[in-house]
Amino acid sequence: MSFSPVKGMHDIYGEDASEMEEVTNLLKEFAKMYAYKEFIPPIMEYTDVFSRGTGESSDIVRKEMYTFLDKGNRSVTLRPEFTAGLIRGVVSNKLYAEDLPLKYFYCGPAFRYERPQLGRYRQFNQFGVECVGADSPLLDAETIIMAVQSLCVLGFENVSVKINSLGDEESRKAYREALKKYFSSYMDEMCEDCHERINLNPLRILDCKVEHDQEIAKGAPKIKDYLSEASEKRFYKTISYLNDMEIDYEIDENLVRGLDYYSEIVFEIHVKSQAGNDYGAVCGGGHYGGLVKELGGPDLPGVGFAMGVERIVSLLKDNGLRKEQPYLLDFFFMPVGGDEEVINSVFYLMQTTRLLGYSADMAEGGKFSSMFKKAERKKAKFAFIVGTDELEKGVANIKNIETQEQITIDLNKLDEELDKLFEHDECECDDENCECHHGA
Ligand code: HAM
Repeated sequence: MSFSPVKGMHDIYGEDASEMEEVTNLLKEFAKMYAYKEFIPPIMEYTDVFSRGTGESSDIVRKEMYTFLDKGNRSVTLRPEFTAGLIRGVVSNKLYAEDLPLKYFYCGPAFRYERPQLGRYRQFNQFGVECVGADSPLLDAETIIMAVQSLCVLGFENVSVKINSLGDEESRKAYREALKKYFSSYMDEMCEDCHERINLNPLRILDCKVEHDQEIAKGAPKIKDYLSEASEKRFYKTISYLNDMEIDYEIDENLVRGLDYYSEIVFEIHVKSQAGNDYGAVCGGGHYGGLVKELGGPDLPGVGFAMGVERIVSLLKDNGLRKEQPYLLDFFFMPVGGDEEVINSVFYLMQTTRLLGYSADMAEGGKFSSMFKKAERKKAKFAFIVGTDELEKGVANIKNIETQEQITIDLNKLDEELDKLFEHDECECDDENCECHHGA
């Protein structure tokens, strides 16, 4: 019997796992610069949180949720996105009683039962932010600027922002009516899903992936002609902040986003793959007016975005932006001679080294050449070589795997000696007598 991962889900290991960690650490640190704090919601919620929050008419809720009954017969759902769960958390914990706006970032897996394809998985990781409790074009703009800058910090240059306004409730009501009228005359030719969409929310027809329906949608009325004066003003105010910050953007009249909670500004960010792969948008977000109230809280708005971490990692790779790690381990310990006493002493030394803050692993004896090959395979920076002779003298030989240079260190001053080995990474001196060991 052989087992494979669940369809659309995948194991992440090796360099992909390191890259993912690096990307998410960078995004988290960057979010902190914008005064965001971490929020860790549960991985599943009662199903109502998503059906009411993410929205009954969205494809996510209609077709893509991992929903099941728990042993207490309650319907629960693995989160298909974070926004609804995070807002449920804000309401459950009455966080809105604090200084507003609340600014939270989050990171972790989300689950959608979609057709697996390039850049589209059934379990994927999102990094995102939500700014809750204040309504201003400045915060909308700040959120977009932050998303763009985060991607630039990761190394991307070809970042393209698409932006649109869905207007306030009044604008969307008028627009929905106009869409209903337009699509009614084409319903006979349109797919089954669109028959449902026209009653649930005709805006969703604009997201339909069926080619013929997309052709029909091209002639549909545009939201910009239905925006209230207030929404139009707000949209152009947000845009003016983007102009001030020289953010490259394009107004995309067809961008409606597939989640029901959006109002006013919506946006998506795409990054070109130099290898020609299309992973879809790396980031999507927007403003939401009624979500906090819908989930039982006060009438507070919010704005946020989420990025697909796997898509970012694939694009970094395609665009040659993945940073080669020079080494993955500080020290690989090699007990020479295979004697049990030496192995035990080396084990103790390795533990001390780890406690001093260095990463380390060891071989349990064996031929010198095979231990050294193992150190290379593990991408260690230094081989830490100790045998009976060295132990008697209280010393160890440290060999730089790349340069093959070797020095002897005093084990009684382990802390100082190891520090010196790494000081050279920052030391730019040309002084041969410098204490830095010159990259030994
Ligand atoms: P979303 O557009 O559904 O928005 O997802 C955000 C990002 O998650 C996408 O741009 C994409 O990079 C990634 N993503 C989505 N589905 C998949 C998948 N099946 N496989 C791989 N990556 C995927 C939201 O989730 C909203 N909650 C964003 C938001 C936050 N709006 C306001 N606040």
